[in-house]
Amino acid sequence: MSNLNKIIEEIEEVEQSANGQIDQQILNLDQLEHWRIIFLGRNGEISKLMKYLSSVSDENKRIIGPKINNLKKSLSNKYNLTQKKIDQRNNAVTEFDFTLPGRPVNLGNYHPTTLIIREICTAFSEMGFQIIEGQEIETEKYNFDLLNIPNDHPARDQWDTIWLQTENTNVKHLLRTHTSPMQARVMEKNNPPLRVIIPGKCYRYEATDATHEWQFHQIEGLAVDKNISFSELKGTLFEMARKLFGTDQKVRFRCDFFPFVEPGVDMSIEWNGKWIEILGAGMVHPKVLEGVGYNPKEYSGFAFGLGPERISMLKNKISDIRNFHLNDLRFLNQFTI
Ligand code: PHE
Repeated sequence: MSNLNKIIEEIEEVEQSANGQIDQQILNLDQLEHWRIIFLGRNGEISKLMKYLSSVSDENKRIIGPKINNLKKSLSNKYNLTQKKIDQRNNAVTEFDFTLPGRPVNLGNYHPTTLIIREICTAFSEMGFQIIEGQEIETEKYNFDLLNIPNDHPARDQWDTIWLQTENTNVKHLLRTHTSPMQARVMEKNNPPLRVIIPGKCYRYEATDATHEWQFHQIEGLAVDKNISFSELKGTLFEMARKLFGTDQKVRFRCDFFPFVEPGVDMSIEWNGKWIEILGAGMVHPKVLEGVGYNPKEYSGFAFGLGPERISMLKNKISDIRNFHLNDLRFLNQFTI
């Protein structure tokens, strides 16, 4: 190998080892200074390379001179950069201002649906109702049959149902279309007197628009005892309206039909000069009582179902029910406890 090639190889070796060390092994200013002395110092590797310049021909000088100079420049740059980096890292710790106020912690809010469900449930628990929950996957028996909605009853068309495919084809499963199946489940498992309130999700297979969602909430209410009459129903629901909307709130009851109550009603509240329907209710149908093994001659009761999102829409002037599921923080952040 010629002398020239040897020198070029040496220049490359110095370059590699200098870069390798500074990139991987230098963590503080002491180590950096040590590196500088080895490579850029007066008797360092660059100086050693420079010495070759006096022993080579002019022609070779023109080849290796710029190479050594470039290496020197690039190592000096690297040195400056690394020094800056280490300085910054050191200052970041030592110049931390402990008197600065902390960053605010984002605590988040309850969802508006949670808030309205809690408010309504609180109104009823103040009247002695117990809050319970039920399952979202129901059977045909509880969602329809035990509620006096037999297979061929036209009322089944009232609810477009999301049916579930299960291995057991004898029992038809579905996503509950209302919280009313819990009426039967609660009565089956308990003896009167009963006063329960059941919040939860319901599902209907229907197109969504500003007032309809395919998934929504209902709050079911049920009271069963001896001698429960229609006036208890009216009194309880009127009191709820006063608690939710204010003591001078007016309400209106009108006849309505639900197969599991008799008589059935809907209740409206007066809102901005208009009557707005907010719930369905009625006296528990004798057939429903019989279906769960209660004697309708001994016991009577009332039941109701309401949509909390609808009530929240009235109270909070929300014009589109789909906002509840859009997860838009501009909407959600308007609700605080
Ligand atoms: N389940 C009925 C509905 O979804 C509401 C209701 C409940 C009506 C209880 C009467 C009694 O529309």
